[in-house]
Amino acid sequence: MSRKISLPNIFLPQFLLYTHHLEFSESWRGEVDRGGKFDRISSKKKEKKSMGKFYLTTPVYYVNDVPHLGHAYTTIAADALSRYRRLCGDEVFFLTGTDEHGSKILQAAREKNLSPHQLADQMVGEFKKLWDKLLISYSDFIRTTETRHIRVVENVFLELYRKGDIYKGKYSGWYCIPCESFWLESQLKDGKLCPECKREVTRLKEDSYFFRLSKYQLPLLDYYSKHPDFVLPPTRMNEVIEFVKRGLRDISITRLNLEWGIPCPVDKSHSVYVWIDALINYISALGYSLDGKNFPIFWPADVHLVGKDILKFHAVIWPALLMALGVELPRMVFAHGWWMVKGEKMSKSKKNVVDPGWIVDKFGSDYLRYFLLREVPFGEDGNFSPSLFVKRVNSDLANDLGNLLNRTLPLVIKYSQGKVPRPGKSTSEDEELREKVEKLPSSLADFMQRLSFSQALASILEAVRSTNLYLDRCAPWRLAKKGERQRAGTVLYNVLETMRILTIFIFPFLPQGAEKIWQQLGMQTDIKKQTIGESVNWGTLSPGIEVKKGEPVFPRIREEDFYETQGETSTPAGDS
Ligand code: MSP
Repeated sequence: MSRKISLPNIFLPQFLLYTHHLEFSESWRGEVDRGGKFDRISSKKKEKKSMGKFYLTTPVYYVNDVPHLGHAYTTIAADALSRYRRLCGDEVFFLTGTDEHGSKILQAAREKNLSPHQLADQMVGEFKKLWDKLLISYSDFIRTTETRHIRVVENVFLELYRKGDIYKGKYSGWYCIPCESFWLESQLKDGKLCPECKREVTRLKEDSYFFRLSKYQLPLLDYYSKHPDFVLPPTRMNEVIEFVKRGLRDISITRLNLEWGIPCPVDKSHSVYVWIDALINYISALGYSLDGKNFPIFWPADVHLVGKDILKFHAVIWPALLMALGVELPRMVFAHGWWMVKGEKMSKSKKNVVDPGWIVDKFGSDYLRYFLLREVPFGEDGNFSPSLFVKRVNSDLANDLGNLLNRTLPLVIKYSQGKVPRPGKSTSEDEELREKVEKLPSSLADFMQRLSFSQALASILEAVRSTNLYLDRCAPWRLAKKGERQRAGTVLYNVLETMRILTIFIFPFLPQGAEKIWQQLGMQTDIKKQTIGESVNWGTLSPGIEVKKGEPVFPRIREEDFYETQGETSTPAGDS
């Protein structure tokens, strides 16, 4: 089902925050096909690639306020993917950070009686605190106010100016500060409101430097047609193509007399437009144009994860800038959907912001990570509600996964002196279970290649359910009573071996729970060092290892827990 996009074809940069949301499914697949003018890779770099590097980014988040569920969502997804790629043996560079310049931040700081620097420092503390709680394994955290970033923005600007892709002109139009976006008069709501956030816009008429985006319309279209998976999911690619086909205009990329921004290196009365400043973080963090060793190793980005509202910045402006610089384009921009509350996008002004920190404090990071990645196919919008949350984690984690562990370990203790039994001859039932487990790595690889976290988790949980059924059917307690100890041992071995392998698979999604299960299974090795490849080979589990039964890893939760007061932050969605 799609809604038609109706954009006048005579503008830009006003298009920047124009959003339209299409329904789509996760049923796409395909390898990224490379080749063409903008795919310059030296042979040395190709070698590195084949050894498996993976560069993954989140947007840099605005520091006008504390992080909310939307920020947590992108970052959790990036973390799960990073952890998965590490298990696959890749060298992963996972970048996140903060977007700290521009009128929006300046205004927020003034309202709080702080300098923008002070506000940014405070909020960076909040973001990092939340990422720690959520066990986000980022490799680098970039702040756009850091010198290492500013120097690269200056270099990029100078380079494009020198090449003639940046020129001086005059901008006349409307500007929305909260969205940091330019709008045409014809797009305004009621003649004065931003069509995106419905707040009042500001009139801008000033000298400005422009980027020759129009020059890149055809090269972009050519690139999209050669790289149909450049933007995913596919419906988003189509939206972008349709949009670019309508025509691109040069965009204003500086603001006059804006005190909180990177001074334009060719004219200090201007600052670099905050979106241009921000996009450059993806290469500045790798030391582009400086002598950073990471750029040749990790660029191009394998995945830029973004929300659907900021797709066009990433799928139109960013690649055009890179083309202008002569730099290889990222391999994929993935646009995910929004988390809504009662059908509305979360926003401070609507007082419906879900506080991820509160949820983590109350229920732990795994439950939030699991819910967000399992409940909704990545790319679609989802509704957050306490009842859905409780249902999902109780049924999948407490009832299925947790229960499998909770019932298996006492059986091992009772019938095998707490030690992994030695397996005997296997039956067709055993083979069936083993085949299921052995098929998982390749289906998981498929799902993860397409960022189908929800399907990846569903397939793991499906294996968990099959194992529970296998245990029910084989009933080792009955076998033991009948004196068939050897057979009971084989069944228990198979369950433990399945659990060992499944624990490796769930680790990227549920790092805390997986580590606990790993310990209870008696594993002495570091779960982080396991690889999807060798470690998941059936039969790797050695008989004789002592299991270590502990507290339930995934306790059941109640919906009432959501509404219990906790001092100031009494509800996860409401009072902030
Ligand atoms: N600073 C820019 C990004 C610059 S990247 C070069 C920005 N920051 S943001 O903090 O406003 O938003 C960051 C991300 O959070 C966006 O990808 C956005 O889609 C996402 N989300 C904001 N609200 C969201 C939900 N309610 N649900 C899911 N994600 C949403 O934009």
